[in-house]
Formats: sequence, C-alpha cells, structure tokens
Amino acid sequence: MKTLVAFFSAEGTTAKAAKALAKKLGADLFEIVPEVPYTQADINWKNPLARCNKEKIGKKDVPVAGKVEDFAAYDRVLLGFPIWYYGAPNVVNTFCKAYDWTGKQLFLFATSGGSGIGKTAQKLAPYTEGAVIKDARVLTGLEDLKAFAQELA
Ligand SMILES: Cc1cc2nc3c(=O)[nH]c(=O)nc-3n(C[C@H](O)[C@H](O)[C@H](O)COP(=O)(O)O)c2cc1C
Repeated sequence: MKTLVAFFSAEGTTAKAAKALAKKLGADLFEIVPEVPYTQADINWKNPLARCNKEKIGKKDVPVAGKVEDFAAYDRVLLGFPIWYYGAPNVVNTFCKAYDWTGKQLFLFATSGGSGIGKTAQKLAPYTEGAVIKDARVLTGLEDLKAFAQELA
C-alpha cells in the first residue's frame, strides 16, 4: 500500500506530527504551502480584519504552491492540518479540490487548541469525492500519535 502524508501547518505543531508519521510508516511527505505564506498577523484570529478571518467568512480558496507528483499512485492519504474554526483551514479544501480522490483511503488527523475533530470530516467530504474517509481524529500528544501510527502500520 503506497501512502502519502500531506499536511498544512501554520505554526509547526501539525508539521511535527506529520513528519513523525511519515517516518514511522515510510510514507512520502507533501507540505501544503500557500502561495502566499501566512504571517503571524495573518493568523491572528482575534483581529476581525486578519486574513484568516476574511478567508473564512468569504469562503475563499487559498492557492497552494506546487503539486503532489503522481497523486494517482497513492492508495492511502493521511491528511493533516490544524483545526481552524472547528474544521479544516480553507487552504486544505483548495488542496483537495486539485486532485482525483476516486478509490483513495483517506485518514484525517489534526492538532488543535482544545477542540475535538467535530464535523471536520463531513465538512471536507465534498472536496474529496470518491475517497473513503476511514478515520478523522485530533492528535493530542505523543501517545495518540504512536497509537495512530500503529493502527496504520
Ligand atoms: C485561524 C486559527 C483558527 C483556530 N481555530 C481553532 C479552533 O476552532 N479550535 C481549536 O481548538 N483551536 C483552534 N486554533 C488553534 C490551532 O488549531 C492549534 O494551535 C494548532 O495546533 C496549530 O497547528 P499548527 O502549529 O500546525 O499550525 C486556531 C488557530 C488559528 C491560527
């Protein structure tokens, strides 16, 4: 089974989990990087005028730099991101829209400031049509990460 770990991380927490997972599973790694990277000011959700709030309210697409090479070759995709506004960040939706998900097994993992996974999978499903979302969870620490990797091994 060929596995891709694709992740977005604005502040580094999800990146650490994604890299550890890819290493444990011997999977390929793709970082979802916005064409215009986020600054600290951009992700200050306490400011109503911050980029993150504008994107959220405007349901905006956030263009992604680069593409996964030979996406069709993967059977299984582990998609990781921080929980933003109780779901996946817009840039993750935009990423998903660029690929054909038919037949893929999709596992969602997230880090958060305390929110659970909530309806994240249902919200993302329209952008990954054809994939089977096998699991969606928030990883809260190293033990969680180990358990997740073991289940996938
Ligand atoms: C714009 C924005 C929105 C967020 N919304 C939530 C939220 O709804 N629930 C939550 O628990 N944490 C929320 N967080 C916190 C992040 O999910 C958390 O800090 C995450 O671990 C960051 O991951 P990263 O370091 O990979 O970017 C938000 C953070 C940002 C920047």
